[in-house]
Amino acid sequence: MSSIHSDALVFFGATGDLAYKKIFPALQAMVKRGHLDVPIIGVAKAGWNLNQLRQRAQDSLEKHGGVDPAAFEKLCSLLRYVDGDYQDPETFAALRRELRDAHHPAHYLAIPPFLFENVVQHLGKSNCARGARVIVEKPFGHDLASAQQLNRVLLRTFDEAEIFRIDHYLGKRSVNNLVAFRFANTFVEAFWNRNHIKSIEITMSEDFGVRGRGAFYDQTGTIRDVVQNHIFQVLSNLAMEPSVRFDSESTRDEKVKVLKAIARIEEHNLVRGQFLGYRDENGVARESQTETFAALKLEINSWRWKGVPIYIRAGKCLPTTCTEIVAKFHKPPSLLPDSLLIENHLRMRLSPDLTIAMGMMSLAPREELALQAGEMVATHCSSIDEMDAYERVLGAAMAGDCTFFAREDYVEEAWRIVEPVLKRNTPIYRYAPNTWGPDEVERVSPRGGWHNPAAAQKAFKAAGEAA
Ligand code: BG6
Repeated sequence: MSSIHSDALVFFGATGDLAYKKIFPALQAMVKRGHLDVPIIGVAKAGWNLNQLRQRAQDSLEKHGGVDPAAFEKLCSLLRYVDGDYQDPETFAALRRELRDAHHPAHYLAIPPFLFENVVQHLGKSNCARGARVIVEKPFGHDLASAQQLNRVLLRTFDEAEIFRIDHYLGKRSVNNLVAFRFANTFVEAFWNRNHIKSIEITMSEDFGVRGRGAFYDQTGTIRDVVQNHIFQVLSNLAMEPSVRFDSESTRDEKVKVLKAIARIEEHNLVRGQFLGYRDENGVARESQTETFAALKLEINSWRWKGVPIYIRAGKCLPTTCTEIVAKFHKPPSLLPDSLLIENHLRMRLSPDLTIAMGMMSLAPREELALQAGEMVATHCSSIDEMDAYERVLGAAMAGDCTFFAREDYVEEAWRIVEPVLKRNTPIYRYAPNTWGPDEVERVSPRGGWHNPAAAQKAFKAAGEAA
């Protein structure tokens, strides 16, 4: 089964927000590239017909990336629609009929998690699950217990090899480039460990709020929304050992080991914030205690990383939109006064552009003994992805390649790490939009303060213009 390509794509939640923003653009791109030539069956409970779904696809594409006439026509010819309630067995009987002679469909659950159990059970009973794959959207559970329960539900109907838990960060080229950069370059290994690296900072900042997703976000918060999944995936790529074989399971084994080496986060290593104005958003509780910002400190207790603090911060309404990693080196045992030296760093920006740069010291031109800090930029490309992350992960799931998906044990380890601070009601500090979070963030900040991605971005632009 693992090498068989799916012969139909079924997506539940066809009239929903995710389909509108992400799935239709990904489907059109896949069709255009010749990567998708099987029936695509939308399922929803909207009282719609196929023409309405096609119209929705067109609206979606007009807003997100544009309509490509030839690819859109082909997409429409592949599109089918099943309307019905997810509780009603007749919906699934209709789906089975619509699948016609497809025997290896991929069922994509782009629906709220509370509906998963029902849909999966009906897929099993209606014979739609045999020979099939299931693709599950994040968030995968709400905590460790619910993730385990969800796994049990899925495993009653599907084998682990047929379950694809989406984390779209795994489909990002820049995130995968971290692994390529580390393991395709001999020199990186020499310094990529506790002997040379003093600390690592990961910032995922967004300069916008919850963008109409208040109801979802208020149930979720930053830790569940991006730390437990996207940022931990980035961290795993940064910290994992090289895989002993070139297959998806060996790679996923190494990632799980990274999480296993991380202790549960303690309260004093976390600061939660909420931007002023959040409680006025639609769908948000007036007394909401949900965080829109989180900063935390953790450590990986492995041979390679023990003793290296890892600082993570993520949030909404911060000064810039950027995902960036900065690893700082120990200072050299120089005879110069310490104050003259700035530590070297390796900076890896994942979005909005892809940059890998090494910060280093050199003699300043003309001045005796004065040092200057500068960056040697190894890679810089402004438009990272010719292929969107969703396009990549959907294509991989249909091809049966698990590499880009979170395995059950990985998801459970990730919940184990964050769960203690989710369960305790840690204080929430308010911060003004367009700042780097509340003042209390000091408590979990690197000595000397955080690297500022906005300043690095500005300096880089200025250097580009001057050149
Ligand atoms: C999603 C989160 O998973 O990732 C959003 O739900 C977040 O809140 C988004 O904005 C970030 O993804 P990207 O690809 O824009 O960095």
